[in-house]
Amino acid sequence: MGRAEGPGLRESAAEDYVSFWEGQARKLEWSRPWDRALDWDPPRARWFEGGELNASANALDAHRGISGRAAILWEGEDGTERRITYGGLLRTVERLAGALESLGVRRGDRVAIYLPMVPELPAAMLACARIGAAHAVVFSGFSAASLRSRVADSGARVLVTADGGYRRGRVVPLKEIADEAVSGLGVRCVVVRRTGAGVRMGPGDAWWDDLLEGAPAAPAAPVPSSHPLFILYTSGTTGRPKGVVHGTGGYLTHVASTFRWAFGPGDRDVYYCTADIGWVTGHSYVAYAPLVCGATQVVYEGAPDHPGPSRTWEILEKSGVSVFYTTPPALRMLARSAPPPSSYGLSGLRLLGSVGEPINPSVWEWYRDEVGGSRCPVVDTWWQTETGGMMISDLPGIEDPDPVPGWAGRAVPGVDVGVVGADGRPAPPGERGHLVVRRPWPGMLLGLWGDEGRYREAYWSRFPGAYHAGDHAVMDGEGRVRLLGRSDDVLKVAGHRIGTAELEGCLVSHPGVAEAAVCGIPDETRGQAIAAFVVPRGAPPPPGELEGLVRREVGPIAVPSAVFHVQSLPKTRSGKILRRLLQAMATGGDLGDTSTLEDPGAVGDVRGALAGSGGAP
Ligand code: WT7
Repeated sequence: MGRAEGPGLRESAAEDYVSFWEGQARKLEWSRPWDRALDWDPPRARWFEGGELNASANALDAHRGISGRAAILWEGEDGTERRITYGGLLRTVERLAGALESLGVRRGDRVAIYLPMVPELPAAMLACARIGAAHAVVFSGFSAASLRSRVADSGARVLVTADGGYRRGRVVPLKEIADEAVSGLGVRCVVVRRTGAGVRMGPGDAWWDDLLEGAPAAPAAPVPSSHPLFILYTSGTTGRPKGVVHGTGGYLTHVASTFRWAFGPGDRDVYYCTADIGWVTGHSYVAYAPLVCGATQVVYEGAPDHPGPSRTWEILEKSGVSVFYTTPPALRMLARSAPPPSSYGLSGLRLLGSVGEPINPSVWEWYRDEVGGSRCPVVDTWWQTETGGMMISDLPGIEDPDPVPGWAGRAVPGVDVGVVGADGRPAPPGERGHLVVRRPWPGMLLGLWGDEGRYREAYWSRFPGAYHAGDHAVMDGEGRVRLLGRSDDVLKVAGHRIGTAELEGCLVSHPGVAEAAVCGIPDETRGQAIAAFVVPRGAPPPPGELEGLVRREVGPIAVPSAVFHVQSLPKTRSGKILRRLLQAMATGGDLGDTSTLEDPGAVGDVRGALAGSGGAP
């Protein structure tokens, strides 16, 4: 691992963050240099204005000299293996890009992608990027209804999907779900053959293989630096998911730099990030950064504990993984299951990463000692869909880490984070406050798709002049940050973001439900599980019915683990549901002052339901 870049990096970033990021951007291949490094018209940032580049050219064409190197070591859940070289991936992407053009996809159009973790998923994303179309990847665990709203919102006319995907040994009928999702929207499907299951092909639909066969290779089209690379939907505090839009030049600069600083990838490294590409971690640190940096990575299709928890250790051992990046929920699951990692040959590991939610110090220590044999640094990386790439982390790729379990470390060079009190003034060291970012950064979202007002409101209205992340945090005297969880109505379940409003909206769509509120309750493995409190309209819906509704309408990740029936919900006099109070009651916490409730009787009612008269967990 080379640290050519290390010394002086923080100093030069502190001196002038804009020219510092320019230096990082120069590591990419540009077709046209930029005229202005940063155009900052708050809250709108445009990085490297005037410059032109192409993301797929940086991920693939730039590596013509190492075309035989493995880009992706793929393993299917059923044990199938594929080794995909940089050259092979380029040939697929060139032709798929040509095929998309022949389907009428043009620069600026959107293409929706609903695929399992197969190599065709990053290939489809890069093919879109190659012709300047923005991809909108929808996690393949989402329901038809969720897929439909995202396809419709993005305005995509082409959807790339598969005949099916494997999940815990079962086949998920993705094409069937996709058909239901896009019915009447005038969308054509491109279908990857994965399971061989028979599917219905509509008149405009085409098989991936057939399309590739006759397709011309499309060259990478240079696009302006701030040309949208993708839209990724994420949960917010209101019912409708937010379409986070990321650009090209700034985004790639940010993800490639942070990948190098955190992981210091060398030619002999084998990197494995367990995130599904349907989430931002998979976009930034599976699909883009590792490829732009010419890394070799493992991509695994299925559940990490299928057919048993040893699956993860087997993958690490077999592929000689040296850099492993995963989530606290996965680690908690692995820490609690046999066999222990020490029964496997994990001596190739040299660096461990965590992302997605706070990591408990005990799990952090287990990760370092049992998985990493006490010799691998653990980096806890804090960032968000909106930030594009890592914002707070130790960076063993450029400097000696100085980790404290439970603390994510300092802001990465060129990024200025702070912790402020409710009044927006810096919180004293060690005091809890709100995490903010004070200056634009290259991976910063361009905005929310089709909703400028919501962009300003959601991120820039709470603390004028600063980006409001929505997390509680404390900072120590040296700028180290400890994350304390979300400060808004967003739940984190098994690392995934779930908006309470979206889930409550789904529950009240049931004719038997008058009102609903959900909150997080501690769960040993998933961090949080979901408790739902519903006020029935007449007879309560039969057990399991609301769970089934959520599974169908939102997706399996949002299914409540307990549903309680109550007569009324605790609300303020202005009608706001007090989810924090529900949470405190569900977890035996301190209720605080309840005298301002609209209906103080709601507390006893909820207590009764929790004590056993409602559906027990
Ligand atoms: C939220 C963003 C970062 C990519 C995956 C999640 C939480 C993320 C950490 C961490 C504590 C973390 C925050 C953040 N979060 N990383 N290292 N320690 N909390 O992206 O779905 O957009 O969620 O995840 O609450 O706001 P996301």
